[in-house]
Amino acid sequence: MERILSGMRPTGRLHIGHLSVLENWRRLQNQYRCFFFVADWHALTTSFEETGGIKKNTVEMVADWLAVGLDPEKSVIFTQSDVIEHAELHLMLSMIIPLSWLERVPTYKDQVQQFKDQGKDIMTYGFLGYPLLQAADILIYRANAVPVGEDQLPHLELCREVARRFNFMYSSVFPEPKALLAKISLLPGVDNRKMSKSYSNDIGIFADPEDLTRSVNSMITDPARIRKNDPGHPEVCVVHKYHTIYSLDKVSGLEEECRKGGIGCVACKKMLHASLDSILYPLREKRKEIMSRQGYVQEILSDGAQRARAVAKETMKMVREAIKL
Ligand code: TRP
Ligand code: SF4
Repeated sequence: MERILSGMRPTGRLHIGHLSVLENWRRLQNQYRCFFFVADWHALTTSFEETGGIKKNTVEMVADWLAVGLDPEKSVIFTQSDVIEHAELHLMLSMIIPLSWLERVPTYKDQVQQFKDQGKDIMTYGFLGYPLLQAADILIYRANAVPVGEDQLPHLELCREVARRFNFMYSSVFPEPKALLAKISLLPGVDNRKMSKSYSNDIGIFADPEDLTRSVNSMITDPARIRKNDPGHPEVCVVHKYHTIYSLDKVSGLEEECRKGGIGCVACKKMLHASLDSILYPLREKRKEIMSRQGYVQEILSDGAQRARAVAKETMKMVREAIKL
């Protein structure tokens, strides 16, 4: 069976924008041997000064994964720092990668500047090398494919180039992993900007019903509608964007009613709330059940680490042989 690897930084509770990513992972479990990991070392590349939340966020995030349907019987679910072979391979690869390959990663200079604007200096060795660490994450499992968002494509291309260089220089150890670009629904935040925790415009997957009400109520609608029978323009409305994803059966009817002023925004939002809640409610319940089991997530992670390590050790053996160490 072909192998897949993907990971996320432990940012804490996930928002609804992550839901389609996780649903994609869930589907892949049936066709591939999957490795899903928490990229806690990657969190250090930008938060090396504030490491206090990483452990807690790891458990919280994995609970989210399990609630959405990642299955530890099918997939290997683990934390990066539990498999130190990632670091050994990263070191080996650091010897053969030209510095210029890292410097030209398109996000690098942008991000350094972005952080500088926030008064933070991330001109570290670790930050420059983080796409190579990502390559090691993938290659250590000799993964054949990586489900990623478009923003990660340059990183994957770098990974392929590094694999090619290694295979050419020593011997053919690594498959060149291909990108699996899923159809990810890019939902805006409630204010119609990019959804992000830092803008406080995100909707948690596991938000309680009151939070969900608050979120839906604060969604921006068509500003041209003042009275409820004014004709509306659903294409500019955040509520409508969500209906197109979460109220499939009702969306064309709602759109028509909105255009002819047949439905008010309050009623339209109520329906969205109902659609969202019917999807999120079972996830919320499942998560509660997971968190109520003492030590359950930790157990899954330690079992996953063991299984991941077995494969990683195998790869490192091949790597050391190839390099003649
Ligand atoms: N860089 C990814 C992110 O920030 C996380 C990540 C680390 C990853 N290593 C990976 C994703 C390997 C896919 C494969 O989201
Ligand atoms: Fe948006 Fe619905 Fe109001 Fe139309 S009726 S503007 S789709 S909230």
